[in-house]
Amino acid sequence: MLIVTGGAGFIGSNFIIDWLAQNDEIIINLDKLTYAGNLQNLTTLESNKNHVFVQGDIGDAALIDSLLKKHKPRAIINFAAESHVDRSIHGPEEFILTNIVGTYHLIESARCYWNNLSDEEKNDFRFLHVSTDEVYGSLEPDDAAFTESHSYQPNSPYSASKASSDHLVRAYHHTYGFPVLTTNCSNNYGPYQFPEKLIPLVLHNAIRGKDLPIYGDGQQVRDWLYVSDHCSAIRSVLNSGRSGEVYNIGGLNEKTNLEIVYSLCDILDEVLPKNDGSSYRSQIIFVEDRAGHDRRYAIDATKIEQELNWKPSETFDTGIKKTVQWYLNNQEWVSNVTSGAYRDWVEKQYV
Ligand code: NAD
Ligand code: TYD
Repeated sequence: MLIVTGGAGFIGSNFIIDWLAQNDEIIINLDKLTYAGNLQNLTTLESNKNHVFVQGDIGDAALIDSLLKKHKPRAIINFAAESHVDRSIHGPEEFILTNIVGTYHLIESARCYWNNLSDEEKNDFRFLHVSTDEVYGSLEPDDAAFTESHSYQPNSPYSASKASSDHLVRAYHHTYGFPVLTTNCSNNYGPYQFPEKLIPLVLHNAIRGKDLPIYGDGQQVRDWLYVSDHCSAIRSVLNSGRSGEVYNIGGLNEKTNLEIVYSLCDILDEVLPKNDGSSYRSQIIFVEDRAGHDRRYAIDATKIEQELNWKPSETFDTGIKKTVQWYLNNQEWVSNVTSGAYRDWVEKQYV
């Protein structure tokens, strides 16, 4: 069986749903259920006995020790993190506590557990750490995309905390021979993404007739990947990645933020035209830029493509249409997750 942390969040819940659709192997899902963790992401698994949910913190060593002892997993996949750059700017502490200290407790407990396994089990065990391309910093327009050997230059408290956890994971392999895998992925989009991130926030606001806030000039570039393609890449790395290696994952979909928002507006104009005949583009406003805003991210995914034969299945066009349709079809999910805590955040961020 596997232990997955952060499996009630956006990518973790997609990973578990996809995994259980294809495998009989049990998943223990350890999640603290912060504002970003929603069990409603997992309602389709309510009667699935192969999904076992445990509410708890990756920083709780006693809990981790007891879960490892009880379930004897063959792998741990660590999705759990504070993940929103803007929140890290308002308050970095939770990012340090979960992303750095929490990852330390999780990997240290995992190492002690691994140490006591038989040689064969030791060989097979994997600790897969899910990270981000943001650890590499920001690219100039003509720079080559990030490879796995690009230097780390994190610019936000979020990316610095993820970089720190990546270094710990790397050091555990180098020092103890602990079998780790690290993935650094570009921006994800798709079902169950919390509506504080660009794509779900824009969809949420657009259909409610609210402003669509673009930070600065909207010319920042991100490399967008449909979430189920990230999940398939993680499965490939878990199954066939070489211990101690890093794999960059990306979609070859570099787009400016303004292009993203235009395409969302255009799809909505088609599938949910406004009564007054105007385009959703008329709701776009430009707001103050994010502090320290990274200009461009782009992933060179040659290593995972060549070594593990992984390729994304969705193009941006197909993935974004599915995403818009999912949000339109799941408005009840959206209303449930945009509770009081969500409204407090929106008031703080978009004054
Ligand atoms: P998310 O914020 O949607 O979900 C994070 C989950 O972790 C939530 O369910 C939350 O309750 C849980 N969590 C937070 N602190 C915890 C703790 N101390 N103990 C246990 N659980 C805790 O994030 P996401 O977008 O699903 O991202 C998942 C991982 O992927 C993160 O590590 C993130 O850095 C990485 N990543 C995200 C993206 C992206 O575009 N979203 C891209 C690349 C990498
Ligand atoms: P986001 O979804 O927060 O992801 P990240 O910061 O991890 O890349 O933001 C994606 C891009 O969209 C980023 O350049 C910031 C920008 N953005 C806006 O322009 N307006 C918004 O309201 C938000 C949330 C993001």
